[in-house]
Amino acid sequence: MKKAKSLVCIMALCAGAIQAQAPKPVPADQSKMNTFISQLMAKMTVDEKIGQLNLVTGGEATTGEAVSNDVEGKIAQGQVGGIFSLTTPTRVRKAQQIAVTKSRLKIPLIFGQDVIHGYKTTFPIPLALAASWDMPLVERTARVAATEASADGINWTFSPMVDISRDARWGRIAESCGEDTYLASQIARVMVQGYQGDDLKKNNTIMACVKHFALYGAAEAGKDYNTTDMSLDRMYNDYLPPYKAAIDAGAGSVMASFNDINGIPATANKWLLTDLLRKQWGFTGFVTSDYTGVNELIEHGLGDLQQVSARSLKAGMEMDMVSEGYVKTLKKSLQEGKVAMADIDNACRLILEAKYKLGLFDDPYKYCSEKRAKTEILTPANVKFARETAAQTFVLLKNQGNILPIKKAGTIAVVGPLANTRANMPGTWSVNADLANTPSLLEGLKAVAGSKANILYSMGSNLTADATLQKNATMFGRDIPRDERPEEVIINEAVATAQKADVVIAALGESSEMSGESSSRSNIEIPEVQKHLLAALLKTGKPVVLVLFAGRPMAIKWESENVPAILNVWFGGTQAANAIADVVFGDANPSGKLAVTFPQNVGQVPIYYSHKNTGRPLQEGTWFTKFRSGYLDVSNDPLYPFGFGLSYTTFSYSDIKLSANSFAPGQSITATVTVTNTGKVEGKEVVQLYTRDMVGSITRPVKELKGFQKISLKPGDSKAVTFTIKEDDLKFYNADLQYVAEPGDFKVFIGSNSHDVKESQFTLAGK
Ligand code: BGC
Repeated sequence: MKKAKSLVCIMALCAGAIQAQAPKPVPADQSKMNTFISQLMAKMTVDEKIGQLNLVTGGEATTGEAVSNDVEGKIAQGQVGGIFSLTTPTRVRKAQQIAVTKSRLKIPLIFGQDVIHGYKTTFPIPLALAASWDMPLVERTARVAATEASADGINWTFSPMVDISRDARWGRIAESCGEDTYLASQIARVMVQGYQGDDLKKNNTIMACVKHFALYGAAEAGKDYNTTDMSLDRMYNDYLPPYKAAIDAGAGSVMASFNDINGIPATANKWLLTDLLRKQWGFTGFVTSDYTGVNELIEHGLGDLQQVSARSLKAGMEMDMVSEGYVKTLKKSLQEGKVAMADIDNACRLILEAKYKLGLFDDPYKYCSEKRAKTEILTPANVKFARETAAQTFVLLKNQGNILPIKKAGTIAVVGPLANTRANMPGTWSVNADLANTPSLLEGLKAVAGSKANILYSMGSNLTADATLQKNATMFGRDIPRDERPEEVIINEAVATAQKADVVIAALGESSEMSGESSSRSNIEIPEVQKHLLAALLKTGKPVVLVLFAGRPMAIKWESENVPAILNVWFGGTQAANAIADVVFGDANPSGKLAVTFPQNVGQVPIYYSHKNTGRPLQEGTWFTKFRSGYLDVSNDPLYPFGFGLSYTTFSYSDIKLSANSFAPGQSITATVTVTNTGKVEGKEVVQLYTRDMVGSITRPVKELKGFQKISLKPGDSKAVTFTIKEDDLKFYNADLQYVAEPGDFKVFIGSNSHDVKESQFTLAGK
């Protein structure tokens, strides 16, 4: 307890080091809202105010052992502020009707849902969307998701998830934007814009909830829900900026994370939720706990339900998801002086404000249109967009001898446990996906190839040899049938199929529930039984294309050395299969670039490009040197670096041209490269800009992404790509947590990934 207290003091001091923001004048519409809410709150009893802080589940998708009961009765008694996991206009209307006709003050409910990567039209998992490096595209996916969800009764989404993730073992890396602070911050911003649009009062915009605040992606050992212990340098410079970007973009709400942060779980962390989020960042929306987050503080060892509820409220956590700790204990805490009326009032006000901003007091049924649900969900335009989007997220990792694209004519053997499953296409957190409208890879390939190709199929292996592991990895109706015959028999059958074909497509990797929440893995390779199948297919001498399904960067060293072509397709949503077929047959050219580093083996994890240099760096390109920072048994190189991805064409980069070799604070320089399409087909390239601060008052990363541009070039065409570098781009939080750029020398790199770059340097002059 003592230790926790002293840490809080250090953090409070740090927060104090950042200048407080000057109070802003209250705009007219806000003052109207304030008056409306003050008048409403004047009529509310303490119980009704506490009721607003209670978020219950409608039970369509649950992620914990506890569920909410007697929901309708509680709504009628004014004991519920919002429901999540309840969809369709009919069901939402029914619940809303109870709130606005049966409860004493007729306060409407807010309806939440995990709309994570699309709604019924499901887009690729977030880690895949990040690999598109296409911000207008990502924003549009959020816009489409908001339109569909709002047409189905939802007005609040638990997204974007922007936990920086550098540990491939952590299953929730699939839900993240990857390892990089800059890229994740851009995504955070556009996702919020996409969901919330320009006016939250419209009936096709929904409120965003940035999560999981904070640092959840740094869970020790990649184990879900695990402890996070982090330096202030890493926190401020690497992990916090994406959440802040979402707040700055206007995210209406925040979800506190499950994890312990330096001794105090986020749910009860006053430094995090009040000093940092509200005082330092100026956040004016509300904070919800994660699923039973308040209750879990008991297991964290912070006290009984009454104690942890009071502590969470006082820390700045307004809404209690599923625990019912607030409704059960806050009144008692108030009577005993453990919380103040002002704490409850403040929380209640923030939740009522959210409802006001959504326009629910004007029309509580504005998201309950059966007509919209019929006409705006899974529209042909949305489905087409999902297909185009998915094709932009696949990452071509290897294409020896240009095996890809495959010619449509001929015989193709499609093999593997992931080839013929619809349920495993959309990916984790796709509770609203319409599996009936989600073709399997086999179906997609057949549809796109048409009558020209003869497509054969064989399952070839189970997902995993172990039946229990397979059961755990195919939950929530995402099962894959098992074949109980001996492994050898199943493989031989696939080999016989392969022998009849001109080319083999091996659909292998992870099932969709092998990543995501509570799906961490200590072994991040393709399951052994599938590798046996792959080895047998390679032995046939037929060209083999590995279509790799993955919710994380996988350790595929053997595959990268032995399989001629590897297309990493993550989990691509509703239209994944058609999009894979488009890419496989060359109707679309892959342009995805990794948003996470692929390790050579799990022992290198966490591995990320923006690491510190150390005092004993291993010289790049060397394997091992005694007394240098590295391993005896593996080099420091990644298998595939951050930002990497091939195309069916090739690009060349000129040297970097700087507009000047130095600039003063307040000024800027430009860095330009000319990129040329040196191949035979049109293609897209993500041109990436990195810098390195050569000398700092604290140690600085060896490279930091500072900009990128996705361009499209026809064969033979060139384009000058220019980046402006300003003082702001060079800023970081120093040891006193001041956000500064320090004068001195910088390296600048531009290239097609974090490793293959052109290099130059400039100086930031002193003031
Ligand atoms: C997850 C959240 C999710 C919530 C509500 C939790 O288990 O951690 O990401 O939003 O459930 O479904």
